[in-house]
Amino acid sequence: MSAIPTFVIRPYRDADAPEVGRLIAETYTAFNLGFAEPDELPKLLGPFRNASSTEAAHREAIAQVIRAPILYVAEDNGEIVGVLRGRKGRLASLFVSGDHHRRGIGRRLVECFEEESRGLGVTVIKVAATLYGIPFYTALGYRKTTGVRSGRSFEGRGLPYQPMKKVLRYGDDGR
Ligand SMILES: CC(C)(COP(=O)(O)OP(=O)(O)OC[C@H]1O[C@@H](n2cnc3c(N)ncnc32)[C@H](O)[C@@H]1OP(=O)(O)O)[C@@H](O)C(=O)NCCC(=O)NCCS
Repeated sequence: MSAIPTFVIRPYRDADAPEVGRLIAETYTAFNLGFAEPDELPKLLGPFRNASSTEAAHREAIAQVIRAPILYVAEDNGEIVGVLRGRKGRLASLFVSGDHHRRGIGRRLVECFEEESRGLGVTVIKVAATLYGIPFYTALGYRKTTGVRSGRSFEGRGLPYQPMKKVLRYGDDGR
Protein backbone atom coordinates (compact mmCIF):
# COMPACT_ATOMS: atom_id res chain seq x y z
CA MET A 1 0.00 0.00 0.00
CA SER A 2 1.50 3.36 -0.97
CA ALA A 3 1.43 6.26 1.51
CA ILE A 4 -1.03 9.11 0.93
CA PRO A 5 0.95 12.23 -0.10
CA THR A 6 0.86 15.02 2.49
CA PHE A 7 2.27 17.71 0.21
CA VAL A 8 0.37 20.07 -2.07
CA ILE A 9 1.49 21.74 -5.30
CA ARG A 10 0.50 25.39 -5.63
CA PRO A 11 1.50 28.42 -7.70
CA TYR A 12 4.50 30.39 -6.44
CA ARG A 13 3.86 33.73 -4.72
CA ASP A 14 6.35 36.62 -4.49
CA ALA A 15 6.42 36.22 -0.71
CA ASP A 16 7.88 32.72 -1.18
CA ALA A 17 11.15 34.11 -2.58
CA PRO A 18 13.34 33.97 0.59
CA GLU A 19 12.26 30.43 1.46
CA VAL A 20 12.59 29.23 -2.12
CA GLY A 21 16.00 30.93 -2.34
CA ARG A 22 17.24 28.98 0.69
CA LEU A 23 15.84 25.73 -0.69
CA ILE A 24 17.60 26.25 -4.04
CA ALA A 25 20.90 27.29 -2.41
CA GLU A 26 20.97 24.25 -0.10
CA THR A 27 19.82 21.68 -2.65
CA TYR A 28 21.96 22.97 -5.52
CA THR A 29 25.07 23.00 -3.28
CA ALA A 30 24.43 19.56 -1.81
CA PHE A 31 23.48 17.63 -4.97
CA ASN A 32 24.82 19.47 -8.00
CA LEU A 33 27.90 21.52 -7.15
CA GLY A 34 30.04 18.88 -5.45
CA PHE A 35 32.55 19.11 -8.32
CA ALA A 36 33.26 22.82 -7.71
CA GLU A 37 36.45 24.23 -6.18
CA PRO A 38 35.73 26.40 -3.10
CA ASP A 39 36.45 29.65 -4.97
CA GLU A 40 34.17 28.64 -7.88
CA LEU A 41 31.20 27.74 -5.67
CA PRO A 42 29.93 31.28 -4.99
CA LYS A 43 30.17 32.09 -8.70
CA LEU A 44 28.10 29.02 -9.61
CA LEU A 45 25.53 29.94 -6.97
CA GLY A 46 25.16 33.51 -8.26
CA PRO A 47 22.63 35.45 -6.17
CA PHE A 48 21.73 32.27 -4.24
CA ARG A 49 25.07 32.52 -2.38
CA ASN A 50 23.27 35.22 -0.33
CA ALA A 51 20.21 33.08 0.38
CA SER A 52 20.57 33.50 4.18
CA SER A 53 20.92 37.29 3.97
CA THR A 54 18.08 39.59 5.00
CA GLU A 55 19.52 42.54 3.04
CA ALA A 56 16.92 44.02 0.70
CA ALA A 57 19.29 44.05 -2.32
CA HIS A 58 20.16 40.40 -1.84
CA ARG A 59 16.52 39.45 -1.46
CA GLU A 60 15.52 41.38 -4.59
CA ALA A 61 18.31 39.77 -6.64
CA ILE A 62 17.11 36.33 -5.56
CA ALA A 63 13.45 37.15 -6.22
CA GLN A 64 14.41 38.29 -9.73
CA VAL A 65 16.27 35.14 -10.72
CA ILE A 66 13.51 32.91 -9.36
CA ARG A 67 10.78 34.55 -11.49
CA ALA A 68 9.66 32.46 -14.45
CA PRO A 69 6.53 32.24 -16.63
CA ILE A 70 5.60 28.88 -15.08
CA LEU A 71 6.46 28.49 -11.41
CA TYR A 72 5.13 26.09 -8.79
CA VAL A 73 6.10 25.13 -5.29
CA ALA A 74 5.44 21.98 -3.27
CA GLU A 75 4.40 22.66 0.29
CA ASP A 76 4.39 20.15 3.12
CA ASN A 77 2.96 21.17 6.49
CA GLY A 78 3.48 24.85 5.66
CA GLU A 79 7.11 24.33 4.56
CA ILE A 80 8.21 24.80 0.95
CA VAL A 81 10.00 21.58 0.01
CA GLY A 82 10.10 21.78 -3.78
CA VAL A 83 10.13 24.26 -6.65
CA LEU A 84 9.80 23.96 -10.43
CA ARG A 85 10.58 26.82 -12.82
CA GLY A 86 9.76 26.66 -16.50
CA ARG A 87 8.45 28.31 -19.60
CA LYS A 88 6.73 27.14 -22.76
CA GLY A 89 8.55 23.98 -23.92
CA ARG A 90 11.39 24.27 -21.40
CA LEU A 91 11.72 22.92 -17.87
CA ALA A 92 14.26 25.39 -16.49
CA SER A 93 14.96 24.06 -13.01
CA LEU A 94 13.63 21.73 -10.36
CA PHE A 95 14.69 21.29 -6.75
CA VAL A 96 13.29 19.13 -3.97
CA SER A 97 14.73 19.48 -0.47
CA GLY A 98 17.05 16.55 0.33
CA ASP A 99 15.01 15.56 3.40
CA HIS A 100 12.00 15.03 1.13
CA HIS A 101 13.51 13.09 -1.75
CA ARG A 102 11.86 9.90 -3.07
CA ARG A 103 8.35 10.81 -1.93
CA GLY A 104 7.03 11.61 -5.41
CA ILE A 105 7.28 15.40 -5.01
CA GLY A 106 9.54 15.93 -8.05
CA ARG A 107 7.33 13.65 -10.13
CA ARG A 108 4.17 15.54 -9.16
CA LEU A 109 5.79 18.92 -9.92
CA VAL A 110 6.83 17.69 -13.38
CA GLU A 111 3.37 16.19 -14.00
CA CYS A 112 1.80 19.59 -13.22
CA PHE A 113 4.23 21.23 -15.63
CA GLU A 114 3.42 18.67 -18.33
CA GLU A 115 -0.33 19.18 -17.80
CA GLU A 116 0.05 22.94 -18.17
CA SER A 117 2.32 22.41 -21.21
CA ARG A 118 -0.36 20.30 -22.92
CA GLY A 119 -2.84 23.09 -22.27
CA LEU A 120 -0.45 25.41 -24.12
CA GLY A 121 -0.21 22.99 -27.07
CA VAL A 122 3.42 22.09 -26.36
CA THR A 123 4.55 18.84 -28.03
CA VAL A 124 8.13 18.57 -26.73
CA ILE A 125 9.61 19.52 -23.35
CA LYS A 126 13.34 20.11 -23.17
CA VAL A 127 15.44 20.12 -20.02
CA ALA A 128 19.15 20.58 -19.29
CA ALA A 129 19.26 17.85 -16.62
CA THR A 130 21.85 17.83 -13.87
CA LEU A 131 23.84 14.59 -13.72
CA TYR A 132 22.08 13.84 -10.42
CA GLY A 133 18.71 14.33 -12.13
CA ILE A 134 19.26 11.91 -15.04
CA PRO A 135 17.72 8.76 -13.40
CA PHE A 136 14.77 10.86 -12.22
CA TYR A 137 14.01 12.30 -15.67
CA THR A 138 14.58 8.89 -17.28
CA ALA A 139 11.98 7.39 -14.90
CA LEU A 140 9.54 10.08 -16.06
CA GLY A 141 10.03 9.28 -19.76
CA TYR A 142 12.68 11.85 -20.73
CA ARG A 143 15.45 10.76 -23.10
CA LYS A 144 18.99 12.00 -23.71
CA THR A 145 19.35 14.07 -26.88
CA THR A 146 23.15 14.51 -26.92
CA GLY A 147 26.12 13.63 -24.76
CA VAL A 148 26.91 15.43 -21.50
CA ARG A 149 27.80 19.09 -22.01
CA SER A 150 29.55 21.65 -19.85
CA GLY A 151 27.78 24.90 -19.17
CA ARG A 152 27.69 28.06 -17.11
CA SER A 153 25.77 28.85 -13.99
CA PHE A 154 25.65 32.59 -13.31
CA GLU A 155 29.33 33.66 -13.25
CA GLY A 156 30.56 30.08 -12.73
CA ARG A 157 31.76 27.63 -15.37
CA GLY A 158 32.08 23.89 -15.79
CA LEU A 159 28.61 22.77 -14.70
CA PRO A 160 27.99 19.42 -16.40
CA TYR A 161 24.49 18.93 -17.79
CA GLN A 162 22.67 16.38 -19.88
CA PRO A 163 20.26 17.68 -22.53
CA MET A 164 17.05 15.61 -22.44
CA LYS A 165 13.59 15.84 -23.91
CA LYS A 166 10.17 14.26 -23.74
CA VAL A 167 7.57 14.13 -26.48
CA LEU A 168 4.22 14.73 -24.82
CA ARG A 169 1.37 12.35 -25.46
CA TYR A 170 -2.06 13.77 -26.08
CA GLY A 171 -5.16 11.75 -25.20
CA ASP A 172 -7.96 10.88 -27.64
CA ASP A 173 -9.86 14.00 -26.60
CA GLY A 174 -6.94 16.16 -27.82
CA ARG A 175 -5.74 17.02 -24.31
C1 LIG B 1 15.94 15.15 -9.07
C2 LIG B 1 14.95 15.50 -7.93
C3 LIG B 1 14.18 16.77 -8.33
C4 LIG B 1 13.98 14.32 -7.79
O1 LIG B 1 13.00 14.69 -6.82
P1 LIG B 1 12.22 13.60 -5.91
O2 LIG B 1 11.05 14.28 -5.32
O3 LIG B 1 13.18 12.94 -4.98
O4 LIG B 1 11.79 12.54 -7.03
P2 LIG B 1 10.54 11.50 -6.96
O5 LIG B 1 10.40 11.00 -5.57
O6 LIG B 1 9.35 12.13 -7.58
O7 LIG B 1 11.12 10.33 -7.88
C5 LIG B 1 10.38 9.78 -8.99
C6 LIG B 1 11.18 8.62 -9.55
O8 LIG B 1 12.41 9.10 -10.12
C7 LIG B 1 13.46 8.14 -9.88
N1 LIG B 1 14.47 8.75 -9.00
C8 LIG B 1 14.35 9.89 -8.26
N2 LIG B 1 15.50 10.16 -7.62
C9 LIG B 1 16.37 9.19 -7.94
C10 LIG B 1 17.73 8.90 -7.58
N3 LIG B 1 18.42 9.71 -6.75
N4 LIG B 1 18.31 7.79 -8.09
C11 LIG B 1 17.63 6.96 -8.93
N5 LIG B 1 16.34 7.18 -9.31
C12 LIG B 1 15.72 8.27 -8.83
C13 LIG B 1 12.80 6.95 -9.20
O9 LIG B 1 12.35 6.07 -10.22
C14 LIG B 1 11.62 7.61 -8.50
O10 LIG B 1 10.56 6.72 -8.24
P3 LIG B 1 10.64 5.76 -6.91
O11 LIG B 1 11.05 6.63 -5.76
O12 LIG B 1 9.21 5.25 -6.82
O13 LIG B 1 11.65 4.71 -7.22
C15 LIG B 1 15.69 15.70 -6.58
O14 LIG B 1 16.54 14.59 -6.36
C16 LIG B 1 16.54 16.95 -6.50
O15 LIG B 1 16.07 18.03 -6.17
N6 LIG B 1 17.86 16.82 -6.79
C17 LIG B 1 18.79 17.92 -6.68
C18 LIG B 1 18.52 18.98 -7.71
C19 LIG B 1 18.53 18.43 -9.13
O16 LIG B 1 19.47 17.76 -9.55
N7 LIG B 1 17.46 18.75 -9.86
C20 LIG B 1 17.31 18.44 -11.27
C21 LIG B 1 17.59 19.74 -11.98
S1 LIG B 1 17.33 19.69 -13.73
